[in-house]
Amino acid sequence: MSTRIVPAGWARHLEPSALQRMLETAAAPDVLSLSLGLPAVELFPREACARAASDVLDRVRTLQYGLPSAPLKSQIVQLMRARGVDCVEDEIFLTSGAQQGLQLLARLLVEPGGRVATDGLTYTGFLQAVRPLAPRILTVPVSADTGPDLDALEARLASGERPALLYAMPDGHNPLGTSLAAATRVRLVALAARYRLPIVEDGAYSWLQYGDAWPAPLAALDRGQVLYVGSFSKVLGPAYRVGWIVTPRHLVQPLSILKESIDINTATFSQHVINRYLDEGHFEEHLRQLRTAYRGRRDLMAAALTRRLPTGSRWRAPSCGFFTWVEVPGLDTTALLEQALAIGRVAFVPGAAFSADEVPRATSCLRLSFSNVPVDRIDDGIARIVSAMSYVRPRAERAAGARVATL
Ligand SMILES: Cc1ncc(COP(=O)(O)O)c(C=O)c1O
Repeated sequence: MSTRIVPAGWARHLEPSALQRMLETAAAPDVLSLSLGLPAVELFPREACARAASDVLDRVRTLQYGLPSAPLKSQIVQLMRARGVDCVEDEIFLTSGAQQGLQLLARLLVEPGGRVATDGLTYTGFLQAVRPLAPRILTVPVSADTGPDLDALEARLASGERPALLYAMPDGHNPLGTSLAAATRVRLVALAARYRLPIVEDGAYSWLQYGDAWPAPLAALDRGQVLYVGSFSKVLGPAYRVGWIVTPRHLVQPLSILKESIDINTATFSQHVINRYLDEGHFEEHLRQLRTAYRGRRDLMAAALTRRLPTGSRWRAPSCGFFTWVEVPGLDTTALLEQALAIGRVAFVPGAAFSADEVPRATSCLRLSFSNVPVDRIDDGIARIVSAMSYVRPRAERAAGARVATL
């Protein structure tokens, strides 16, 4: 008789994220997906990247294992300096996407069973990254208008809580779409410095800014306090799986050892292709085009929401990133998703999927992504979601006591 092979205790409690499940549902060919934060692949510079790929195949040992590409690190230094983050090549650690950056930093900084702090509604990939460490998660109430409640964070820190890290998304928060005001950034970094709390700043959407003023990353305010996690996924393609951490030098070696045990090195081929592409000097122009295209999609979604949402709904168009966060008071958006899929063949992500703690929060909210929807389908998508609302029983009795912690 064969043995039933069982995962270790900690792994038995792992669950697929709501987003992973969503990827499967939304992948059905007849479903219009406003759910996932997928970039629009048709906007990527495919010809230039094909040229770069063929070039590097000819010229360098790109199909071999390899050290992190020094020229790519230099390019990243330039990108970061342009955003006010003063760093050097030795402080750039290449990763397999921002996701691996989060995972490596969690492993490096958090003791098993230790504490981490994050917004009450947060990127589920961060939760996935820390979960194997079985941490205690301290949640900071967060508002879609102004970001994390820094008074609440300060009170927790003043009362003696000492999380190993604070995870922050100051640009184009996932899921709320919020970008933090400059003054909030300054206060957050000062608070972290006072309590020696390392901040892991997730800049996955940082280059997709739609306004004129680009607030400085947290890492520009205090390099010693902030570990910046960046990525080429949303601007050149997630398939490359190339991201980076801007880290103090003394963490590079432990990060390298950890990373080697996971995937040896970041895909060398991708590193060289991206470096070659950046060398051609068209990246700035490409970013401008991306911003124009996504701003257009954002505005179309805003127009559709203005036209179609029931009175009393609240939402705001983001100044960065892919997401519009909507609240329809009294509506159970998890129930709405079932109806929207069944009747309208349209998908979004219910707010509760982003709760960082056991209590389902934002149950009347939904995250809508405008990034990967054909422009001529955006209004139709919103129309279908709104018509599915009439099939969901109003949740008046629960709404009265519901804690919409997010808005
Ligand atoms: C906030 C946030 N951080 C990190 C990631 C992961 O990005 P990458 O593809 O670079 O691993 C995502 C992907 O959607 C994201 O939304």
